[in-house]
Amino acid sequence: MRSITIKDIKDPSYEMSEAMNVLRTNVSYSGEGVKLIAITSVDENAGKSLISFEMMRNYANAGMKTLLIDADLRKSVFAARYGATSDDGLALVGLADVLSGKGEINDAVYKTNIPNAYVLPVGNYVLNPTPLFSGKIFTAMLDVLKKAFDFIIIDTPPLGRVIDAAIISKNCNGAIIVVSANEVDYRQVNEAKNQLLRVGANVLGCVLNKVGSESSRYGGKYKYSKYYKYNSEYRY
Ligand SMILES: Nc1ncnc2c1ncn2[C@@H]1O[C@H](COP(=O)(O)OP(=O)(O)O)[C@@H](O)[C@H]1O
Ligand SMILES: [Mg+2]
Repeated sequence: MRSITIKDIKDPSYEMSEAMNVLRTNVSYSGEGVKLIAITSVDENAGKSLISFEMMRNYANAGMKTLLIDADLRKSVFAARYGATSDDGLALVGLADVLSGKGEINDAVYKTNIPNAYVLPVGNYVLNPTPLFSGKIFTAMLDVLKKAFDFIIIDTPPLGRVIDAAIISKNCNGAIIVVSANEVDYRQVNEAKNQLLRVGANVLGCVLNKVGSESSRYGGKYKYSKYYKYNSEYRY
């Protein structure tokens, strides 16, 4: 298996670790056999990619063999944000390559320098990714991966922009909607939820992100003092 070194990682804050622990507990109580989940939101910048990454770390730390799939084939941030490069120096083969039949899944799943954490990056740019998620390769790939991993998190593009996240969610055991506090209104969240329900996805609930606004005790480095809150009132 190829490997990736994730260079730019800091330890999660106490608040973040705690919120991720709560989230992991809530997901584990959300139903038998929930091991493949999609992280969605109404629009971009809600925090999907951040939460997907932190969930991967949290599950991996808890001893579960965890895979993060970057399925935002339109605007991936993973490699740039975390300074992730392939240890063999070759270009990263990824999801787009596998789904378009140009790459093998065995070359696209990478072991990382975080114990128990694996990633399937986006790979090479494709023009119109939506049909790739409706194809047989995608479901067959997920079946294979479900057997190989204890838990799989799929980071997706925004539901309010493209249909990809709904199609992806339909093929998962559950979907979580990341809601950026004060940045999105209830009707939009409700519409995103209904969109997921229409395709038959199992909506597990919401993560209320960017809660609070006073500068934090971490020297104002982060805008938000309370990073994540899993809002159980939002469960459907
Ligand atoms: N709780 C948070 N506290 C501080 N910054 C956050 C928080 N959640 C997200 N961000 C920041 O907001 C930006 C968008 O987050 P990202 O995870 O890329 O969103 P998305 O994947 O939904 O587009 C990033 O710069 C990220 O670091
Ligand atoms: Mg993102």
